[in-house]
Amino acid sequence: MKPVLVFDSGIGGLTVLREFRVLAPERQIIYVADDAAFPFGAWEEGKLSAHLLALFEELIQRFQPEISVIACNTASTLAIAALRQAMPGETFVGTVPAIKPAAERTRSGLVSVLATPGTVKRQYTRDLIHQWASRCHVRLVGSVRLAELAEIYMREGYVDENAVRDEIAPCFVEADGARTDIVVLACTHYPFLVNRMRKMAPWPVDWLDPAEAIARRAVSLLTAPEGERVSGTDLAVFTSGRRDAAAARLMAGFGLTLEGERAR
Ligand code: DGL
Repeated sequence: MKPVLVFDSGIGGLTVLREFRVLAPERQIIYVADDAAFPFGAWEEGKLSAHLLALFEELIQRFQPEISVIACNTASTLAIAALRQAMPGETFVGTVPAIKPAAERTRSGLVSVLATPGTVKRQYTRDLIHQWASRCHVRLVGSVRLAELAEIYMREGYVDENAVRDEIAPCFVEADGARTDIVVLACTHYPFLVNRMRKMAPWPVDWLDPAEAIARRAVSLLTAPEGERVSGTDLAVFTSGRRDAAAARLMAGFGLTLEGERAR
């Protein structure tokens, strides 16, 4: 059985990995954090797209995954079509802003999409709004700092709550007596900060995290029989090559062995 590759620019894809594990615990996972290129949200589109295509050529050759889960909105909204086209034999599962479920669930009609500056700029995101949420008022909020705040929080256990408050503030809209009632977490890093977001929010909203839906989609595409496990550890690969104790500890918390470490 081949492994499942889960990919992000950093720790964000772990929010999808933990859901995937619950649904398919027997599968071997290779978690790739392209931390050498973090944050994807700040990249120019053409360069990021070329970077992702080149990196995936390498990753697919090296790990030969059964499927690749692009657990990153910033990468998926930009390059999922190009990846599928460049590697037609491969199965890619993308992560894109959960605008359709938000539009179905909102009662006030005011929805905010909290994402990286890259994701809010994408045509893909605009098309999703046009297709599924044309009857809602959708505010796109590009956050420059939240992904980094989530990285720091996961590594050091500390988060600057005032910074979180400032980053989420534009999501909260009041118009004609109605208020935003749903915030789409359209970056996989953000669910790690959701408790802080709840605490710092001016009023309660639903925070929509698509991780479980992405994991379900990924599981539905697996073809190899269940119950058999690949002999091999679940591996975390950092493209920067970092192998420090803090990274190893964090990855171990998700059942992953950092590449280069001896398997426990
Ligand atoms: N986790 C990524 C996402 O879902 C983005 C973080 C970054 O800017 O690299 O969009």
